[in-house]
Amino acid sequence: MPTADAAVGPRGARQLHVRRVIAETDDAASFALEMPDDESFRYRPGQYLTVQVPSSQTGSVARCYSLASSPHEDAELIVTVKRTDSGYASNWLCDNVSAGDTLTVLPPSGRFTPASFDNDLLLFAGGSGITPVYSIARSALSQGKATITLFYANRHERSVIFARAIDELARAHPERLEVVHWLESVQGIPDRGAVRELARRRPGRQAFICGPGPFMSGVAAALEESGMSHKNIHREVFTSLSGNPFEESTEPEPTVDEPGTEGGVLTEVDLDGQTHVVDWPRGKTLVDVLLAKDIDVPYMCKDGECGSCQATIEQGSATMLRNDILDEEDIADGYLLTCQAVPQGDDPIRIVF
Ligand SMILES: Cc1cc2nc3c(=O)[nH]c(=O)nc-3n(C[C@H](O)[C@H](O)[C@H](O)COP(=O)(O)OP(=O)(O)OC[C@H]3O[C@@H](n4cnc5c(N)ncnc54)[C@H](O)[C@@H]3O)c2cc1C
Ligand code: FES
Repeated sequence: MPTADAAVGPRGARQLHVRRVIAETDDAASFALEMPDDESFRYRPGQYLTVQVPSSQTGSVARCYSLASSPHEDAELIVTVKRTDSGYASNWLCDNVSAGDTLTVLPPSGRFTPASFDNDLLLFAGGSGITPVYSIARSALSQGKATITLFYANRHERSVIFARAIDELARAHPERLEVVHWLESVQGIPDRGAVRELARRRPGRQAFICGPGPFMSGVAAALEESGMSHKNIHREVFTSLSGNPFEESTEPEPTVDEPGTEGGVLTEVDLDGQTHVVDWPRGKTLVDVLLAKDIDVPYMCKDGECGSCQATIEQGSATMLRNDILDEEDIADGYLLTCQAVPQGDDPIRIVF
């Protein structure tokens, strides 16, 4: 079996061999990729890969796919792709990629991951939204003490991705994993009252939701009605990227060095246990400011579409140029997409990643 191509492209892109393709359902397939041995491909459960898909029209397109594998359990990187009606990349991948092929991917990214595997979890998945949630569940069961309830909604029985594996997981951990399947063909659209009650009977948990937009907003609303704090509700939005991080220049424009000069705002950034003090020029996004200073800030799309650059603003004020991820309450809670954030006002700013 060939090994991972050592070539590293822009942004750490690697060509990885596809070891296996697994037909999961009639319209979803898993692609098990070889794990390269460099640090940049270490990942946390809930993170995703960005995959390059050739296109005769544009050269290529980029799409994100959550890792369904667990970093603690699996030696391969596994993404599971569900065909989208009239969708380009999902159908191309399912139709064209076989074992032995290579895929060009960017290193794992994303912030949809539990802070601890010991905190009890409420996991909600709709359809292909199971992928990050399955990785989180398996990782927490093997690495922590968390008790987990997985609410898993699907159109019908045939569309349940990982059905057998989830059954086996529940049988292996009867005291810690409870699975509630919801089939639209039998029970209709997931019922807000049922979700509310489920959450009420399991207080004090962290919730992770992934699935179609209406599913996620319905579940989030029900959780809040049950009394859960907005801060304990984490969502992963599945969208198609409009830009192409494989092809775009990622060189940030140079910024001034002296805090407080050229009308910028003095800004303290806490990132990976380090505090950086920077001048944040008006009109420049924080990700560009940090990249220009060689600070290793998390980001992927730079278009406000993926959420990997999310941080909280703890002091001062900033606004976002574009945002397809955060809702009004997230923003009220201080969450910010730093690839779209520009400073507001004159007060010093503090950002925590
Ligand atoms: C963090 C993250 C993780 C993800 N994880 C997964 C995962 O694990 N599994 C998974 O299957 N997906 C996942 N996705 C979604 C995935 O990235 C793609 O969005 C999905 O596969 C659809 O891509 P596509 O190219 O097939 O569809 P697209 O071609 O992007 O089309 C999507 C929809 O838009 C419509 N559309 C396309 N072009 C136009 C147009 N010009 N005008 C109007 N409508 C249009 C299409 O008809 C279709 O309904 C994830 C997304 C993100 C951001
Ligand atoms: S990098 Fe994708 S939202 Fe900011």
